[in-house]
Amino acid sequence: MTVGEYTLITGASSGIGRQIAVTLSQTDNVILCGRNEEKLTETKRLCASQSNVLIWKYDVSRVASVESVLKDFIDTNQIFISKYVHSAGVDGMRPLRSLDCDFVHNVYSVNIFSFIFIMKALCSKKINKSKIRNAVIISSNIAEMGAKAFVAYGGSKAAANGVVRSMALELAPDVRVNSVSPGAIKTDMTDAMQMDDAVIKRMKNTYPLGFGKTDYIADVVKFLLSDESSWITGQNIVVDGGRTINLNG
Ligand SMILES: NC(=O)c1ccc[n+]([C@@H]2O[C@H](COP(=O)([O-])OP(=O)(O)OC[C@H]3O[C@@H](n4cnc5c(N)ncnc54)[C@H](OP(=O)(O)O)[C@@H]3O)[C@@H](O)[C@H]2O)c1
Repeated sequence: MTVGEYTLITGASSGIGRQIAVTLSQTDNVILCGRNEEKLTETKRLCASQSNVLIWKYDVSRVASVESVLKDFIDTNQIFISKYVHSAGVDGMRPLRSLDCDFVHNVYSVNIFSFIFIMKALCSKKINKSKIRNAVIISSNIAEMGAKAFVAYGGSKAAANGVVRSMALELAPDVRVNSVSPGAIKTDMTDAMQMDDAVIKRMKNTYPLGFGKTDYIADVVKFLLSDESSWITGQNIVVDGGRTINLNG
């Protein structure tokens, strides 16, 4: 790792993003992005070393200003970002009849629009002097399956998989871009679901390897950011304990 070289992780204040940050901090300088400063500070405390961690408090739904704010952050800290993991996400479980424009727009802004414009910024030499080399977005196995009340969320995650394929083509061979699609993992996002015994029972039958843990996802992200995966780009890696295989086959 070169001096001033950093890995940016959005959604680093909680759940999957927090575990990715902690795992990557063993080898990388990391930038923790989220809105909740207290939780970002807690993630920093969990990291392998405190000295290689920066905190970027930002609401990524503010998509229009993300390029200029990120430029200021990079300039102020005199760093560059070579790797980026987008784990910021909102689930927004809501039936079609209750959807309104603001709600759908927010889900898409956090889950995918912000990724597009952060990538645009990181590919600009004017903003990020040494340009990005590798990016991973956390998608969802829902993107491929569909689920009731997930029109906004499932659509945003399917969009993520599509964006990854086109971005990977456009940015090759300099930058690799992939997505990871987790199945059910116990985090703040799935708290309500995990409290419901009936839901847990029904879901358990559909997970051949049982429910997931955040470090299962972090390990795959680490692999995709490493030279071990140097011939993989534009792919969506499903990490869901077998949830999406044909259970009746
Ligand atoms: N858990 C699962 O079962 C599961 C399954 C499939 C996919 N995923 C995906 O995995 C990713 C991480 O989810 P998780 O389970 O770890 O959820 P989580 O614990 O609720 O974490 C969500 C993260 O997103 C950040 N975030 C949300 N809105 C934001 C905004 N406007 N600006 C900046 N940051 C924002 C939150 O930070 P602040 O609150 O600090 O802003 C938090 O760090 C998401 O993309 C999710 O869709 C999760």
